[in-house]
Amino acid sequence: MQSEAAILAADAAGIARAAALLGEGRLVAFPTETVYGLGADARNGRAVASIYAAKGRPAFNPLIVHVADAAAAEELAVFSPEAHALAAAFWPGPLTLVLPLRPGAGISALASAGLPSLALRVPAHPVAQALLRRFGGPVAAPSANPSGRISPTTAAHVMEGLGDRIAAVVDAGPTTVGLESTIVGLANGAPTLLRPGGVAGEDIARVLGRPLERPGAAAQPSSPGQLVSHYAPRGTLRPGASAPRGDEVMLGFGPVEGTLNLSSSGDLVEAAANLFAMLHQLDSMGAQAICVAPIPDHGLGVAINDRLSRAAAPRDGS
Ligand code: TXA
Ligand code: MG
Repeated sequence: MQSEAAILAADAAGIARAAALLGEGRLVAFPTETVYGLGADARNGRAVASIYAAKGRPAFNPLIVHVADAAAAEELAVFSPEAHALAAAFWPGPLTLVLPLRPGAGISALASAGLPSLALRVPAHPVAQALLRRFGGPVAAPSANPSGRISPTTAAHVMEGLGDRIAAVVDAGPTTVGLESTIVGLANGAPTLLRPGGVAGEDIARVLGRPLERPGAAAQPSSPGQLVSHYAPRGTLRPGASAPRGDEVMLGFGPVEGTLNLSSSGDLVEAAANLFAMLHQLDSMGAQAICVAPIPDHGLGVAINDRLSRAAAPRDGS
């Protein structure tokens, strides 16, 4: 447990300190026009893993990556003409676009939960803008509240929920929109309204010149984490294995060795940071069957086990 978070003023010195902390892989809460975000360097897997640890998220939902402008966003994802039109109309602002991840973008696989898509947003809040420019890199940030609690619209809300689990919060007073960004999926097929939010769906449809699709009934989420399909390796996956059987390639943890090891020291934050990247690596080695060492079911281990059991579940063949 670390000491109470620093409350930084939203001035040049406070923003410089916040940017420096992000560069050290620490967690910094900052205001956006929607809600306060819990930020970490999106390229640093350990920093991204510590977001999930601080929030106590029982699952690895993909995170929104924040950048200062559309040019920075285009370095990370592939923009279609419709994506360009929405970015031009609504950025900076409370709109998040889910787009195909650009290969080699350098974003931690944990930030996008191993998916080939990336959620991107350019916030309008001047303090968010100043922080992103000063930091000069992509910042992964969910709302800065413990899992299952409501999103924070003041620095005091952030301190109440996460004060003992983060390095700092930049205090710029209450946020104005108070509701999360609208999320539009453009990564597969027709533009889809994945989450209603700060920009009205009608305004988005007007720019596109066609209505937004709603996620199919089958994909209707009963919890936010079910909104997106989950990453699964091509081969079969067997969690809780003490040793490989037959042709299985082993993913180790702690003293249980494997072809790769999620964390030889048994550190769950390191294991979370490595999870998706290592599954991808075993996949690209052509592993037909993967087994994974037992992961303790506490802390980030709960989210790791959640993802492993989803990845192990029988698939529909599509
Ligand atoms: O206003 C906001 O959007 C705030 C501020 C801080 O920017 N952020 C926020 O983040 O609400 P969060 O983590 O609470 O919501 C992120 C949601 C995920 O639950 C998921 O539904 C969706 O974004 N998402 C992220 N990446 C995705 C992807 N690759 N495909 C589909 N949905 C994705
Ligand atoms: Mg949230």
